[in-house]
Amino acid sequence: MDERLVVVGSLNMDLSVTVPRLPRPGETVSGADVVRGPGGKGGNQAVAAARLGARVRMVGLLGDDAHGVELRAALVAAGIDDSAVGTLPGTASGLALIVVRHDGENTITLSPGANDRLDESTLRTLTGGTVANRADTVLLQLEVPLPTVLAAAREARAAGALTVLNAAPLPAPGPLLTRLLREIDVLIVNETEAAGLLGLPGVGSTADGENWTARAEQLRRLGPETVVITLGGAGAVAAAAGGRLTEPGFPADAVDTVGAGDAFCARLAIALGLGHPLAQALRGACAAGAMATTRHGAQRSLPTRAEVDRILGGNGVAG
Ligand code: RIB
Repeated sequence: MDERLVVVGSLNMDLSVTVPRLPRPGETVSGADVVRGPGGKGGNQAVAAARLGARVRMVGLLGDDAHGVELRAALVAAGIDDSAVGTLPGTASGLALIVVRHDGENTITLSPGANDRLDESTLRTLTGGTVANRADTVLLQLEVPLPTVLAAAREARAAGALTVLNAAPLPAPGPLLTRLLREIDVLIVNETEAAGLLGLPGVGSTADGENWTARAEQLRRLGPETVVITLGGAGAVAAAAGGRLTEPGFPADAVDTVGAGDAFCARLAIALGLGHPLAQALRGACAAGAMATTRHGAQRSLPTRAEVDRILGGNGVAG
């Protein structure tokens, strides 16, 4: 049977420019033509999960502008149930201004728009008070207000769903975040977010796999049973009750890393929701993330299940 997944999160229109190098503060750098496409961590993870074979419901909020119409159309085109995606009159949809360096590294400036208006009462109205909606897994990120994410996690857990949080972008530490982490079964963070949650000054070396597995283990003390830290091109590590794991990942010719983390999260959430072993889930997630780096854009770069299976079958990462 297919995995049933609910994503509660953001929907953004992405405006992206590829540049030879990222500008420093106060500097202007010329780049290629602007590319516009659907994005947002919530929307990306929902579309990724649908392409990977899950039955997906999206919960989110759009503005009543042309971007909102396009963003909804992208969800529907991916086969996602959009009945819990609202449209807020007089509000702009979320917008992300993205600058991508030729090797795939990027910076993102976000204008949250309607995403910021997804409060607890709107969440209840959109979902009829049942976020989980009989789903196996509820997948969350932090581009919508923290109290809403906390309410969604609590409700999902009470309904017996697996709660998966991609803690990005990471807010300043505080009691709400502490409470949220206690409602989460699986936490996914990158190195910077992991360091931030542990109160560490810097990122350190991605080559130091042992160090990162130890940090994943430390993060488990904040609440989640399973913690996964993504390490970019160096793969990912995990810590769970059964022990620590390192997955070296898949070499890929990266052109744009936007959306790669979202592909990773979707694939991991699906696999763990289906009860697959963590090592297998981690490998599949790394394959999905690597594949997404080989194409430009957010949602347009997300791989299908067949593409990920091909990589896992040893046939390499192709753009
Ligand atoms: O994770 C990538 C996403 O982050 C982009 O699509 C952009 O919208 C930002 O939210």
